[in-house]
Amino acid sequence: MASEIPEESKCQNVYLGKSGLRVSNICLGTLTFGESNMGQPGQLDEAGSHALLNRFSERGGNFIDTANVYGRGRSERIIGSWLASQQRDRFVIATKVFFPMDRSNPNSMGLGRRHIMDSVEQSLKRLKTDYIDLLQTHVWDDATPLEETLMTMNDLVRSGKVRYVGASNVTGWQLQRIVELNKQMGFNACISLQQQYSLVCRESEQDTFQACKLNGVGVLPWSPLKGGFLTGKVRRGQKPQEGRLAWSADDDTLELQSAPTWAQLNKTTNWTALEAAEKIAKAKGKSVAQVSLRWLLQKSVVSSVIIGATKMHQLDDNMDASNGWTLSEEEMRQLDEASQPEIPYPYELIRRLNVRRNNPWNATGYV
Ligand SMILES: NC(=O)c1ccc[n+]([C@@H]2O[C@H](COP(=O)([O-])OP(=O)(O)OC[C@H]3O[C@@H](n4cnc5c(N)ncnc54)[C@H](OP(=O)(O)O)[C@@H]3O)[C@@H](O)[C@H]2O)c1
Repeated sequence: MASEIPEESKCQNVYLGKSGLRVSNICLGTLTFGESNMGQPGQLDEAGSHALLNRFSERGGNFIDTANVYGRGRSERIIGSWLASQQRDRFVIATKVFFPMDRSNPNSMGLGRRHIMDSVEQSLKRLKTDYIDLLQTHVWDDATPLEETLMTMNDLVRSGKVRYVGASNVTGWQLQRIVELNKQMGFNACISLQQQYSLVCRESEQDTFQACKLNGVGVLPWSPLKGGFLTGKVRRGQKPQEGRLAWSADDDTLELQSAPTWAQLNKTTNWTALEAAEKIAKAKGKSVAQVSLRWLLQKSVVSSVIIGATKMHQLDDNMDASNGWTLSEEEMRQLDEASQPEIPYPYELIRRLNVRRNNPWNATGYV
């Protein structure tokens, strides 16, 4: 089966940030695996999930992202039952910790030592493995001292239960604090940042990604297609009729943050970005999803893009962004320009006043 996929259309391997870990430049996100705990439609059962994993692996993918909380453990369990039939050391398994697994237990949430340790033990059992390649903090925790979190993560690396540590959903100063504290304490470095990033979500470029560049932290964009919006299946002014976007269209509840509402999608800036991607896709004979993913892959801070899929043809479509073609400098510029969000103060002022302050010996550059 593997021989049917031509080598040149398989995923490329890249370094994850400045670490020595090699991952495929497409990471398979598994939020769609197993019955959703949020009632999300289009979720995959075990057989459907395993079919996607098989295909992903045949196409050169080795990097799989999950979280303890996805389907309250169901996603990790499905990966575990698949991994048991695979050569474990061929895959890089990333999971996360923060969200509550049992709301009746006050210690079942956050980034305190007790929850991180318990969560990792449970993840290992569900994943049927004795080590996690990348353990990521799912979101910044205001309640726990950062020292406690980082020391626990470091202890897990020293014990061999975790190989590398990463973060998700943080601001620039928070990431810089993580990096510096790890250095001061002689802890393992944070090698990656999983952050929402797409043609319609570029806010992290202002600050967080500058901290990534400065410290060699590889960015792993999540929701790269904004839940399906950047595939061209939603037209300007017409509410989505199918899939996750239709389900979340009129719901503003906090829990649905990974599924944008119609109010969040229906903005002039989003349509402008989408239509620029559509134009380039048409001219190049590529899909809108491929152009949107390729734009991310060509950003210097990005290591690997975390895709999501509910159907095999979506996986294939998305994986075709990984190799064998590029967007030209001019196409990148057009997409950058069409999707440029308003830059807030002080970022805009600093940028404007530094337009001619170009010292190649002191180049920070923008993402
Ligand atoms: N760290 C975090 O806080 C965080 C948050 C969210 C996600 N994540 C990670 O990021 C991964 C990806 O996020 P995401 O699922 O939101 O990604 P996404 O790419 O923005 O959206 C994926 C959804 O879009 C639709 N889709 C995907 N490819 C398509 C294609 N080629 N054509 C048409 N429709 C397509 C499918 O939904 P329908 O079939 O329902 O339309 C699919 O489930 C997750 O699995 C998870 O691992 C992390």
